[in-house]
Amino acid sequence: MATPRTSLPTITRASGDPASATADVLVVATRSGDDGAVVAAEGLAKKPAAALTAAAAAVGHTGKAGSTARIPAPAGVRAASVVLVGLGAPAADEDAAKTLESLRRASGSVLRSLSEVESVALAFPVTNAASAEAVATGALLGSYRYTAYLSDAESKTPVSTLAVVAPAAAQSGLDRAESVARAAADARDLVNQPPLDLYPETFAQAVVDQAAQPEHKKAKVRVEVIDEDTLRQRGFGGLIGVGSGSTRGPRLVKITYSPRKASTHLALVGKGITFDSGGVSLKPAAKMEEMKSDMAGAAAAAQALFAIARLGLPVRVTAWLALAENMPSGSAQRPADVLRIYGGKTVEVTNTDAEGRLVLADALVAAQEESPDLIVDIATLTGAQIVALGARTSGVMGTDSARNRVVLASEASGEPFWPMPIPEEMIRSFDSTTADLTNAGGRAGGMLAAAAFLQEFVEDGVEWAHLDIAGPSYNAEAPHGYTVKGGTGVPVRTLVELADLLAGA
Ligand code: BES
Ligand code: MN
Ligand code: ZN
Repeated sequence: MATPRTSLPTITRASGDPASATADVLVVATRSGDDGAVVAAEGLAKKPAAALTAAAAAVGHTGKAGSTARIPAPAGVRAASVVLVGLGAPAADEDAAKTLESLRRASGSVLRSLSEVESVALAFPVTNAASAEAVATGALLGSYRYTAYLSDAESKTPVSTLAVVAPAAAQSGLDRAESVARAAADARDLVNQPPLDLYPETFAQAVVDQAAQPEHKKAKVRVEVIDEDTLRQRGFGGLIGVGSGSTRGPRLVKITYSPRKASTHLALVGKGITFDSGGVSLKPAAKMEEMKSDMAGAAAAAQALFAIARLGLPVRVTAWLALAENMPSGSAQRPADVLRIYGGKTVEVTNTDAEGRLVLADALVAAQEESPDLIVDIATLTGAQIVALGARTSGVMGTDSARNRVVLASEASGEPFWPMPIPEEMIRSFDSTTADLTNAGGRAGGMLAAAAFLQEFVEDGVEWAHLDIAGPSYNAEAPHGYTVKGGTGVPVRTLVELADLLAGA
């Protein structure tokens, strides 16, 4: 089955009084005040605002962040019903990033819980492009439903049109939200697709098909797929080794977006293990199904590039997708095998489940041949990331300036990243008696150790950030805000922000 594309609602801008917006449901933002909920929507006339405040009090809606109440529309409101959604108390420190994230989460929560509704209008405190973008982004991502494999997909049809009440000057924010949320949704689709159907060859084909879409053709996005035989000939020992247990061979996909006005070159390197069974060092059965998401880094790298191209940002971007399926079999690599990574370094495979770093090493070396200004690798690399930072905060390691840039981009996107060190002694745990390195070091500080391994494949002086997204890229727990179950799209939005930052620099 080809990679299906989940449809998202169309986004339009509505102007004037939200009370007269034509939609099935009008969403009205509230804040918690001293005497209960206060309507926080811009431009709502006094009478309907007063009626909604009274209704909120009557149903016990206090404006608490994330709380919602659906009520029949009061007189003077055109929609049939109203959903009140709380933004909580205003951010005390006037933190703009926090405020924008509260908008995303609120609109996301509402759209996530609405079903069997055609059209929705959103009345939030939207005054400019940034706030309009936040409301639209949350609403689009909260609308996402993965229905490709349901026999009764109709029952889960998402909202088809979203109208954000916003001033004309905020239109650019809605346009950006549409491009970026589309990219996050496309990344979610790839992550959610079962590994029976998404394997290196079909992943590569999905990227080729996507590059052929008119908007990407117009932006001159190019794709090169390096197949298994060529990888072997050219010495990509990491991809060949990891892929050798599968009947579906590895691929290296190179995607380029090279606008004429670009002054900076960003390379994105994505881990694309389409299924990680652990290989001969087999994983336990519990939750192994979640390892269909082990290609989330590659999905994010590809979709961020497509979004950057659609937005026409003046940054050259090259995405490298290191695609392989990690399976146990008679042809699989064994613990004790020695691989030769692209460029010549040798690695003794002491644990076949530490496969991500092997395919990334190949791709990192290849990416550096073009001397990009900044390399960012993105990987569901270690369970230790989840131990250290939890399920929602990604780790970022690397050179100081690259790491700081990612943190800045993350603050703008609302996808949390926390800077972590690469202690210099860690590399010693990879000492091998046979090869230059082993692939599995000590258990303590496993996320940092993995980064220390990757660092061996980054030349001195190269600006590099390593993003460990093991937890945040896949939500196995209850949905929250604009985050549904399954693929989350993390860190597509951060990567687009990073490109924006580089474009401005
Ligand atoms: N894909 C896993 C990491 C992972 C774990 C991602 C849980 C998402 C959720 C990776 O390939 C892996 O197996 N890492 C090992 C490394 C170890 C063998 C050194 C790990 O984290 O246990
Ligand atoms: Mn693994
Ligand atoms: Zn893995």
